[in-house]
Amino acid sequence: MNSTPSPRVAVIVVAAGSGTRLGLDAPKAFVGLGRHTILRHALDGVLRTGTPIQVVVVAPAGREGAAETDLLEAADAAGVSRDLVRVTTGGTTRQGSVAAGISALLPTVQTVLVHDAARALTPPAVFDRVIEAVERTERGIVPVLAVIDTIKRVDGDLITGVVDRSELAAAQTPQGFERAGLEAAYQAADEEYTDDAALMAEAGHPLGSVEGSALAFKITTPADLDRARALVEDSPLPPLPVSLDQAPRAPRVGVGADVHAFGREGPLWLAGLEWPGEPALSGHSDGDAVAHAIVDALLSAAALGDIGTHFGTDHPEYAGAHAEAFLARTLGLVGEAGWRIGNVAVQVRANRPRLATRRAEAERALSEALGGASVSVSATTTDGLGFTGRGEGVEAVAVALLTPA
Ligand code: CTP
Ligand code: MG
Repeated sequence: MNSTPSPRVAVIVVAAGSGTRLGLDAPKAFVGLGRHTILRHALDGVLRTGTPIQVVVVAPAGREGAAETDLLEAADAAGVSRDLVRVTTGGTTRQGSVAAGISALLPTVQTVLVHDAARALTPPAVFDRVIEAVERTERGIVPVLAVIDTIKRVDGDLITGVVDRSELAAAQTPQGFERAGLEAAYQAADEEYTDDAALMAEAGHPLGSVEGSALAFKITTPADLDRARALVEDSPLPPLPVSLDQAPRAPRVGVGADVHAFGREGPLWLAGLEWPGEPALSGHSDGDAVAHAIVDALLSAAALGDIGTHFGTDHPEYAGAHAEAFLARTLGLVGEAGWRIGNVAVQVRANRPRLATRRAEAERALSEALGGASVSVSATTTDGLGFTGRGEGVEAVAVALLTPA
């Protein structure tokens, strides 16, 4: 019999912001950080707290599905029941998003933590400290960091005074509160506050603090994203999804397809080769539909998502990149997940270029980029039918076989 989950604690992860200051195409929570999104990293920290918790992710309108994918994968990886996690739609302000999260709490929840998805690398211990302090002191609890720099009071470019640093602390999230107080304060709030603690203080609630973490910095600017990326690259890979750990390690197949339209200036790049004199394909990278279909087939076989997960427009480092970069990174990803490439077969559907004239060369280039794996390339026209037949673009379909390493 299924028992209804009855957690005492919930964490609301607000992820509905647009990330204006980061300035990328995707909302900030969906920007790539290592092999996952910012949101997924935040959730990995949240779900590894020591207490059973409900997790509510507040997503931007239209991105609920992507948020749910991250949330369910993170819950599975942490061994947390899917009944304890849910996604809801955010508001136009952070405060509105927190309010939406509060509406999604389970009835048994008594302690609520509110956390910025943008503080993606916050260690689980910070959540544990906040939960413990809220329950013990019955105060609202803010994780803080001592201010390291000397702080001056300024007026324009004049320094008008010194501020005693020992009286200051930088506030982070997750901030934790007793549920009834938080709900009442949010219902009564009629202006915007800088954070939840400020809103609670205004409503007369006492606040306390615990030690925050330098890793809980908020990813706000491109420099913050660079810092987070460097930290993620240096850290060991997260454990594999439970479904893969537990699966019998039989070979797995995957499928991938890609389409690009002709229509960019410059040379054509296809199947890892440059084709002088042929019309170029458009796309975020070099438009190499053959390489992209292969990447998708390999990721599909390893159940690691798809090309958008790892190389989307939110990964500016792959803008203009060629097949080699995509394939080498994909080889690394499937290798880290415990797989070796059996073989890859890709079919190109296009009027031009004439693949047959350089088939062996293309197979060699793709194979080299995949560490010597067997790659076969075939090509066909579509009898004048469809967009390929009209010469508007190129389609490529790939299958890949992976075997346990
Ligand atoms: N947030 C939210 N809903 C909003 C605005 C912000 O859920 N309407 C969330 C963000 O997703 C983020 C956290 O609040 O996790 C902190 O906000 P901030 O760092 O300012 O993120 P953005 O608002 O996305 O960024 P920017 O201000 O640069 O646009
Ligand atoms: Mg903001």
